[in-house]
This record gives sequence, C-alpha cells and structure tokens, in this order.
Amino acid sequence: MNTVCLDRALPVDTTIPDPSLVCLIGPAGSGKSTWASTWPDTQVLELDRFRALVSDDAGCQEATGDAAAALQAVLKARLARRKMTIVDATNTEKAVRADLLQAARDHGVPAVAFLVCAPVDVCIARQAGRSPARAVPEDVVRRQHADTIAAFPHLRDEGFAHVVFADTIHRLEPLLRRASATRRAELGWNGGGGLPGLRRAGCLLGLLTVRRVFGSEVLPLWRWRADSQLAGGDRVGEIRLGPDRMVLALRTSSEDVGAFGFDLLVGCPVDDGCVAPAWAPVFSVCDLLAAHTTAIVHPDTVCTVHGGPDRTGCDQGGDHTDGDETHAPRPRL
Ligand SMILES: Nc1ncnc2c1ncn2[C@@H]1O[C@H](COP(=O)(O)OP(=O)(O)OP(=O)(O)O)[C@@H](O)[C@H]1O
Ligand SMILES: [Mg+2]
Ligand SMILES: [Zn+2]
Repeated sequence: MNTVCLDRALPVDTTIPDPSLVCLIGPAGSGKSTWASTWPDTQVLELDRFRALVSDDAGCQEATGDAAAALQAVLKARLARRKMTIVDATNTEKAVRADLLQAARDHGVPAVAFLVCAPVDVCIARQAGRSPARAVPEDVVRRQHADTIAAFPHLRDEGFAHVVFADTIHRLEPLLRRASATRRAELGWNGGGGLPGLRRAGCLLGLLTVRRVFGSEVLPLWRWRADSQLAGGDRVGEIRLGPDRMVLALRTSSEDVGAFGFDLLVGCPVDDGCVAPAWAPVFSVCDLLAAHTTAIVHPDTVCTVHGGPDRTGCDQGGDHTDGDETHAPRPRL
C-alpha cells in the first residue's frame, strides 16, 4: 500500500498568498474539512455544503453537477472581488482542478494546491465512524488516495503557483483565534477566570469533557495518549494540527468527586534552562490561544522540579472569584 511521504520529494513551500485560491486536495477522510475550519466560514466553499444547498442532502452524488456549478458561481464572484477562497472538495481529478485553475487565472489570483494526505488506512478507518450517507466506499478512498499521490509531481505544471503540504503549515493559531472569539461572543465572557462551577460539573467523560472545556472546533484535533506517564498517571491528551502541538493533562480531584480541569504542558516558569515538565491551568480555548501566541506565564504555573513562582498573598489578593476548587489540582510530584 502506497503511503509515500510526499513532502520529502521537493523543497518545502509554505507560501499561501492573500488573496489566493486554495484548492484542498486529498482523499475522503484525510482531514480537508478540519483544515478548512481554520479559515473563516465565508472563505470556505465546501462541495458537500453545496450538495446540501441544492438537494438537502450533503451526500447526494446525483446533485454533484449542480453543486459544482453553484460552487463555481460563488467562486467566480469571490475571485472577482479578490477574496481569499478555499475550495474544500477532494479535487483529486485533474479536470476538476483545471476548472478551478481557470477561474483563478481569469481573475489574476494565484492558486495554491494544499495537499492533505493522511495514510490510506487512516482515511478508510475514518469512514467507519460516519453515517452510511456520508461514508465513502473503501475502493473510492483508495483511488482518491492513489490519484493524490499521482497528481503531486504535476501540480506546478498544471498551473498551481504553490504546492504546500498540510503537515508543514501552521494554522492552529487561526483556529484557536476563531474558536476563542466564538466562545467570548456566546458567553459574553472574557475567558480568563474559568467557567463558574466548571470543575464541579459532574463526571463528564472523555471527549465530552474536551468539547465542554475547549469547544467543538478543537475536538477533531484532540487525541488521548495511551498510557502516558508524563502527568504522574493522569490522563494525557494532545491537540495536534500539522506541526503545531499542545499537550494537556486531565486533572481530577480525589477529594471533590466530579471536579476536573486541564493543565497545559509549558516551559518552566522559574529557570529558562530547565527541561522538566511544567503545567499551567487552562480553562478555555481562550487560555489555549493565549498560551499558544504569547509568552505570558500563568501565575499558577508549576514546574515539576522547581515548583511555581512565589505566590505569597496570592490567595487573598488574587482576582480569582471562584474559590480554590476552580484551580487545577496541582500535579502529583
Ligand atoms: N489534524 C487532525 N488530527 C487528528 N484527527 C484529524 C485531523 N484532521 C482530521 N481528523 C479527523 O479525521 C476525520 C475526517 O476529517 P475531515 O472530515 O476533515 O476529512 P475530509 O478530508 O474533509 O473528508 P471528506 O472528503 O469525506 O469530506 C475527522 O473526524 C477528524 O476527527
Ligand atoms: Mg470534508
Ligand atoms: Zn523547572
């Protein structure tokens, strides 16, 4: 089975100009829509969505022609305005790409081939979790995967100004930024102090916990690590998108059944040269964004060797209003 590592074949190009027409290319289940979700909704033209718009059924293959025509019409209107546009479809067929490239050329907008190519077995396994209407048959996934690999060396000649690999592109920040803005708008809340009562919210398990704390946008990127001892036996998971990664530990309290929270693996707050794990409490996607984009050290960050910065008086004078139980239980040292 061909799971060639495509990105070793040429120097890495990570350029995505703005504006450009970004054509996602990859088999069903490779993660295209997950990557597309890192751009604002209005910039993403998803073929499934257009199928649903013309037929009320995102999986209706008979509606593909009408859906593609509607997608082309919106694409042209956007490119005429020089708007950043991402086309979320498999785009594994040369004729389909040719139509997209023609539209980009007609409007003088550069086209980017954005390859999303997970191993074929992973793409096939992901179909099992989908509804029958959404699941793509194995032979079709295999063909799309093979077509992606076969297309890769010719994409520049086809007319793409840039050929980029999802695995080299940093787009976790825009995803977190959008999710954070959504949370703030939904909750009318600054996201800094945690949701009142969150750590007492009952015994929510697994992915429900992740979604509750960080939101649905983060959920597709989440994986629990099996048998990790990184957090003293507490469950460890990670948020991963291409080269970006954030590692978190799920803390539960032995005294307060049902209390839980996440700590983020960060650098030591005491000694720059220290390589021991340090943990900072994170209460929301807003905290993840802050940790990912700024060097600000959360005052409750604790290094497993050095402990935390001196917090004398913090408990009386701090701005936390939820009481101590809202803080992440400290790692067991
Ligand atoms: N970076 C990632 N890390 C882990 N899992 C991922 C990642 N990207 C996608 N997935 C998982 O793969 C599954 C399929 O992803 P997605 O729906 O984005 O694929 P797709 O390429 O859009 O498929 P289709 O062509 O059928 O629409 C999702 O359920 C998601 O949880
Ligand atoms: Mg999709
Ligand atoms: Zn340290």
